[in-house]
Amino acid sequence: MVTSFVKPQVRQLAPYTLRPFRSEVKLDQNENPFGFPPELKEEFWRRLRARDWARYPEFQMETITQRLAQYVGLPVEWVLVGNGSNELFQSLFSVTLERGRVVILPVPTFTLYKLIAGILGAEVIELPLRREDFALDAERVNAEAQTHRATVVCLCSPNNPTGVAYPESDVRRIIEESGALVVIDEAYREFSHQDFRPLLEIYPNVVLLRTFSKAMAMAGLRVGYLLARPELVREVAKARLPYSLNHFSETAALVALDHLDVFHAQVQRLRQLREELFMALSAFNALSAYRSQANFILFETPRPPGEVFTHCIDRGVLLRDVSHYPLLERALRVSVGTAEENQRCINVLRELFG
Ligand SMILES: Cc1ncc(COP(=O)(O)O)c(C=O)c1O
Repeated sequence: MVTSFVKPQVRQLAPYTLRPFRSEVKLDQNENPFGFPPELKEEFWRRLRARDWARYPEFQMETITQRLAQYVGLPVEWVLVGNGSNELFQSLFSVTLERGRVVILPVPTFTLYKLIAGILGAEVIELPLRREDFALDAERVNAEAQTHRATVVCLCSPNNPTGVAYPESDVRRIIEESGALVVIDEAYREFSHQDFRPLLEIYPNVVLLRTFSKAMAMAGLRVGYLLARPELVREVAKARLPYSLNHFSETAALVALDHLDVFHAQVQRLRQLREELFMALSAFNALSAYRSQANFILFETPRPPGEVFTHCIDRGVLLRDVSHYPLLERALRVSVGTAEENQRCINVLRELFG
């Protein structure tokens, strides 16, 4: 069998999959529903035309890295840019994890961490979040990390798919006491009031991962960045493929960084819409919606989530059935869309629960 050439730990893993559904209202991937504004697209095309497509991108990606360093207020050596934050997770884990090493994941969370760690042969220890409110049990994380001498603890805050932002005090306890490298995925940071950047300057064992896919409306262009101490950034950079950011993605990211006010306004509006959507979901007696610090909301239903999903997609509204995640047997996740999209979603749910 040709697959005998593949590492056994890889063959055992379930792939990261997403079934493609066509829908008028797409609320399944936590994208920015307003999109990259047309006038900024014009500026993007102007800048892109002026670039020489026949030439490789800059070897060290100096221009975008410097611009990001300025944006986050850190020296340039603390920043590593990549082809989406997913790529940077892969690079980071490939220089830190291997067979015999342990990674701790509070779950439910973003499934890619487990997949990448598994491919590398690391042992993944999943610790359930508190059932009632999906809070982090920092004491348990520390105890397990210490017992197993974990190399990495991976925290997603605000967490996907729960929407919970972990209190800074809990995160600090883990950074101080776990003995591990604490990786914090801040993909949804802009929708919360959190910013863990100051922790980087206090503690050497912190890594932050950020993305242009959510608040910056660039999921299709794949731009992410990692922030860490320079000595760690240099090691992770060894595993990142050269030229991972192409001219298109880099140009779009530079345009976005020159127009942050536009994206701030979108994020403000999305926060308002999140509140309205939360209120509308909470108004159904049958549903339990959880407060979210991200651009999506988790809710539980008395009916099988698969049935709710099918009812909605049959009426043009695509949600995410997350009932296969630990603790979430009754749950679906809905991204915050435009006012009209959210209303369509509420209308189709009313047919079931109204
Ligand atoms: C928690 C989390 N991290 C990272 C990503 C993906 O980021 P990127 O598009 O930068 O690879 C997602 C996308 O859904 C996410 O939910």
